[in-house]
Amino acid sequence: MYNENDFDKIDINVEPPVEEPARQYYFIAKCREWVKSFEQKNGRLPKSCVTTFGCQMNARDSEKLTGILKQAGFLMTEDENADFVIYNTCTVRDNANQKVYGRLGVLNGYKRRNPEMRIALCGCMMQEPSVTTKIRESYPFVDLIFGTHNIYKFAELLAGMYEKEAGMTMDIWEDTDKIVEDLPVSRKYPFKSGINIMFGCNNFCSYCIVPYVRGRERSRNPEEILKEIKSLVSEGVVEVMLLGQNVNSYGKNLESPISFAELLTEVEKIEGLERIRFMTSHPKDLSDELIAVMKNSKKICRHLHLPLQSGSTRILKEMNRRYTKESYLALAEKIRREIPDISITTDIIVGFPGETPDDVEETIDVIKKVRFENAFTFIYSKRTGTPAAAMENQVPSEVVKEQFQKVLKTVQDMARERVVRFEGQTVEVLAEEVNEQDSRLLTGRMSNNLLVHFPADTEMIGKIVKVRLDACHGFYYLGSILSSK
Ligand code: 5AD
Ligand code: SF4
Repeated sequence: MYNENDFDKIDINVEPPVEEPARQYYFIAKCREWVKSFEQKNGRLPKSCVTTFGCQMNARDSEKLTGILKQAGFLMTEDENADFVIYNTCTVRDNANQKVYGRLGVLNGYKRRNPEMRIALCGCMMQEPSVTTKIRESYPFVDLIFGTHNIYKFAELLAGMYEKEAGMTMDIWEDTDKIVEDLPVSRKYPFKSGINIMFGCNNFCSYCIVPYVRGRERSRNPEEILKEIKSLVSEGVVEVMLLGQNVNSYGKNLESPISFAELLTEVEKIEGLERIRFMTSHPKDLSDELIAVMKNSKKICRHLHLPLQSGSTRILKEMNRRYTKESYLALAEKIRREIPDISITTDIIVGFPGETPDDVEETIDVIKKVRFENAFTFIYSKRTGTPAAAMENQVPSEVVKEQFQKVLKTVQDMARERVVRFEGQTVEVLAEEVNEQDSRLLTGRMSNNLLVHFPADTEMIGKIVKVRLDACHGFYYLGSILSSK
């Protein structure tokens, strides 16, 4: 590993090393030189802003970008009127793309007033050739573009961008089998952290662009994962979220294969770690072994996110999900039977090509039978290059909107009904932050992922405390603290 002083000892007047991560450390040192010269010229440090769109994976990637910027000496800010702004983009649905284009216009305004400002784009959207073409043509003020596969090269790209007087730098890779370890990370929360256990996805659900922009499935070695978690725990982390597009297929392609359940068993043994979460599970790969490990675990949280997408077997087949309505119901029932206090949440898509009102009724039937504690409902978004985009029977948007409202109402009614069942109970809660609306309250998360707000001192943040759930307010609770653990 490294510490800050080590970067000043690196000789940047020689050729950069070839191996990673030494090569990136060299470029971090180069960026530090640039920061120093900026400070001399302007009498202040350069300000940098990282803006994240999309999922937990992107949030974790942004922590890596921030880690490198901080080590380079930038001052981090949430204000996009800064000297260096990077958007870590998402392209899973088109509205995420539209947001980026809209906000780029605003950045252009800032850059006109501060010509030394530099703008970078990275993440999933950049893996789409149509996007990079559009940016080159319509947003020429962007300085640096890179994709998902070479994010580990951020320091090198940043140093290169500052060496260049002007013009766009673009570096996009089609795929990679490389995983670079031991780069700097700056965590958003001191007490909890995401951990990548795998990258990419091999499932090719027919609506989904992720396998095209994140590449093939690659698992990290268990030793690296355990080493990282142990180091996080020694820094005060009590909760980890293991991240992958399909964690249930973790480890299958490693030189010495290991199952996700076996990995969890090893993570459980780490002393000082209190809570383990993971995301996302594909129903087709969820094993009995995993259910047994969850059931017997003291640390794995009572929450499973199990994307359904559709309740119609016919649509599931078109989606290439490789399970049926019946097998999903049987799986959910088995999980509820084995782990009665678990929360099951899901993702649902409405408006997939060819979906009829009868198909939507099947989805509603599954929602009512599984009784999800929460569900994210999405309107189908056509993603260029996916098989579903080429299907001819796209559903008109007025029909989709009507069906979407129906599904949303069922989801919300169900969630309200499910969440209220904990009223009066005393539960363990990880106090996470000051409540956004009322600063006298802290917001904490129960093992089952539900939120509770309770009056407490900010000193409690990061601790696991016992809270009585006094009143249910729809999807969250108001509670009172009884003790710290
Ligand atoms: N349109 C709408 N929703 C989508 N998702 C993935 N691709 C699409 C799409 N093309 C949803 C799925 C997935 C979640 C992360 O995003 O429900 O589980
Ligand atoms: Fe997309 Fe399916 Fe992979 Fe999830 S499992 S990322 S929905 S292709």
